[in-house]
Amino acid sequence: MSDRTINVLVLHGPNLNLTGFREPELYGKKPLSDIDVDIQTAAKGLQIEVRILQSNHEGVLIDTIQESRTWANAIVINPGALGHYSYALRDALVSVRLPVVEVHLSNIHAREDWRAKSVIGPACVGIISGFGAEGYILALTAIRHMEQLAV
Ligand code: DQA
Repeated sequence: MSDRTINVLVLHGPNLNLTGFREPELYGKKPLSDIDVDIQTAAKGLQIEVRILQSNHEGVLIDTIQESRTWANAIVINPGALGHYSYALRDALVSVRLPVVEVHLSNIHAREDWRAKSVIGPACVGIISGFGAEGYILALTAIRHMEQLAV
């Protein structure tokens, strides 16, 4: 494992700002602000610099992905429902040519049929789904260990 600091963009898509309040039996009781603190803490321990953004707007997520092209070494994204149908988000992730890890708090394969499909999944190195907010930490840990990010 390399010990150089790497930069990771963490994106939360639509409705994830309501995490903690919205369907807590599926998404957990922890508010997104607390999850973000946990992400920051874990990142520090892994020598990762993170920039975190939540947006309910597809265009804002796409702009941020494009703008982070030269800063980020990798992207972690919970696309929310956009992951099931947004080809624009998928194309943006492919365009920047960075390793991407898709995260879902819930297990998208254990819910409605339409949720099992991810259109961004094929553009990702891997998908972490069903481990709640721990999924973001697992994603950062996986990125930290990725060969292609070693110096
Ligand atoms: C989610 C799963 C999506 O199906 C849903 O639309 C969300 C949250 C998750 O984190 O489990 O908004 O991405």
